[in-house]
Amino acid sequence: MQNKKNSNFAEKKWWRDAIFYQIYPRSFNDSNGDGIGDLEGIKEKIPYLKDLGIDAVWLNPVYPSPNKDYGYDISNYQAINPEYGRFEDFTELLDAFHDQGLKVIMDLVVNHTSTEHAWFQDSRRNPNGPYGDFYIWRDGKESGAETPNNWNSFFGGSAWKYDPLRGQYYLHLFEEHQADLNWANPKVREEVFRIMNWWFSQGIDGFRMDVINMISKDNSFPDDCRDLDELAIKGTPYFINGPELHTYLKEMWEQVLSDPSKFAVGECPGAGFEDVLALSGLDRKELDAVFQMELMEIDHGNGGKWDIRPWKASEFSAKLTRWQQVLEGRAWPANFLSNHDQPRALSRLADDDEYHFESSAMLAVILLSLTGTPFIYYGEEIGMPNADFTSISDYRDIDTLNFFALERERGRDENELLKIIRYMSRDNARSPMQWNGKPYGGFSSTEPWIPMGRRYTQINAEQDLAAERSVYKEYQKLISLRKKTAALGYGSFEPVESDHEQLIAFMKRHQQGDYLIYANMSGRNALGQLSLLPDSLPEGFTMELEYSNYKRTTLHEQELKDGILNLRPYEACILRIVVYP
Ligand code: NOJ
Repeated sequence: MQNKKNSNFAEKKWWRDAIFYQIYPRSFNDSNGDGIGDLEGIKEKIPYLKDLGIDAVWLNPVYPSPNKDYGYDISNYQAINPEYGRFEDFTELLDAFHDQGLKVIMDLVVNHTSTEHAWFQDSRRNPNGPYGDFYIWRDGKESGAETPNNWNSFFGGSAWKYDPLRGQYYLHLFEEHQADLNWANPKVREEVFRIMNWWFSQGIDGFRMDVINMISKDNSFPDDCRDLDELAIKGTPYFINGPELHTYLKEMWEQVLSDPSKFAVGECPGAGFEDVLALSGLDRKELDAVFQMELMEIDHGNGGKWDIRPWKASEFSAKLTRWQQVLEGRAWPANFLSNHDQPRALSRLADDDEYHFESSAMLAVILLSLTGTPFIYYGEEIGMPNADFTSISDYRDIDTLNFFALERERGRDENELLKIIRYMSRDNARSPMQWNGKPYGGFSSTEPWIPMGRRYTQINAEQDLAAERSVYKEYQKLISLRKKTAALGYGSFEPVESDHEQLIAFMKRHQQGDYLIYANMSGRNALGQLSLLPDSLPEGFTMELEYSNYKRTTLHEQELKDGILNLRPYEACILRIVVYP
């Protein structure tokens, strides 16, 4: 009995078949020796990307920015940051990608702009001018000395900043130089849609939309009166999936996105199942896909990301299962294990040292076996671990630095904080791409804007490609396996061992064949119980090994006979279910 629920995904879309590669341009490749990655540098590496087998790239923001949040504070939406190149460099890069058959999506950051954006500067000077209502301005409470409400910024402290020029507070859900746009103003929406259409007219293929589920706020701006952990963010119920979100996105779809070749993937922190279905359900005409964020909270405690707690394989499996199953046939997932906001998955979820190769390939098996579009993050394909900086002066990320400063003020111990930061900081995943073991890692000829990851002389693309066991080559194998195996990218998901302490196991089922995936997420041998496979499998089936990250070419007779799969540390296998006549 085959499960055919997933047939709703049968409609061909380029982005459903695509494997994406996310590039953080500042750290990818520096062509002009200023220590900052650039567009020309990316262009030089197109052959490397093409060989990997990917189909599309997402570029983190490349627009002019004062870099308070490294590009997520945009001061001009229709230009290129001169640190990265000229506008012509951008169009050349786009053409070069397109010539190789690779698509390009850009970051759309329109929940907020930089306070240096001309709109904001005008808004603070001319409350009654054309941009006066482009941002969220409010008077303080009572005497005016107190912020309009108790909401927090994601990067620490109040979400409100007083502007003496305008004599009012403006809302900033992120850093104080990232002022939230007022989407309730139709003129703001008109401008955003105009800018998006303009980028499409330049030839881009889609957008990754930054915190797009925060654009609508509860306009009564109430205090958040929940009893929350000290580190938790106050205000979220009033701006995550806010009241007009769907109205705005439907307008956006009608005015910009209705052409089916345009891809829109949303970053929607805090979105639950119902929200994701409402945002990206197949009939919704809003977004094409939403990133699956919940896995990234696996090690977060009640106080959020800086409140680290241990995680278990069984929880990982439960989260994966829930999201894959709830969305099945209803909304297309976008999957990732690492990005520029997370520590590297290799260091977080596996062993980046003794079992470096096995761990890297095991995570690749998970990512590339899920239904939905996979996003590989630069460096993941060579097993780049956390940058693991040992001194606070090496960190650049405002979120990390604010956390450190605020907690120091509260009296927390410096070493305790550094330990947390070494594990969780976003800078772990923003250090320069490790191309080789020479000074500055082949990334640049000069000292980079952020230090190289601590282990770049041992872990880099040159070494990896020359090694007998190359992570890059495992990615190539897995990408090509995924491309010819409909069950991996499109199949229905059935958990096989959901309560195992060490491993995760699931089936991917499809009319064209069923597959079984095992991933040992621990550094100890683990036993998979083949007897736990679903009853619905055909009578007399057996299994053939399609992939293993260890040197095994087949399942051992004994394993099949005993119904027990012996998985070595971080071993991952993909098995095909076969029935011989
Ligand atoms: C989410 C982005 O991914 C992150 O890097 C950024 O800091 C915030 N949104 C604010 O734009």
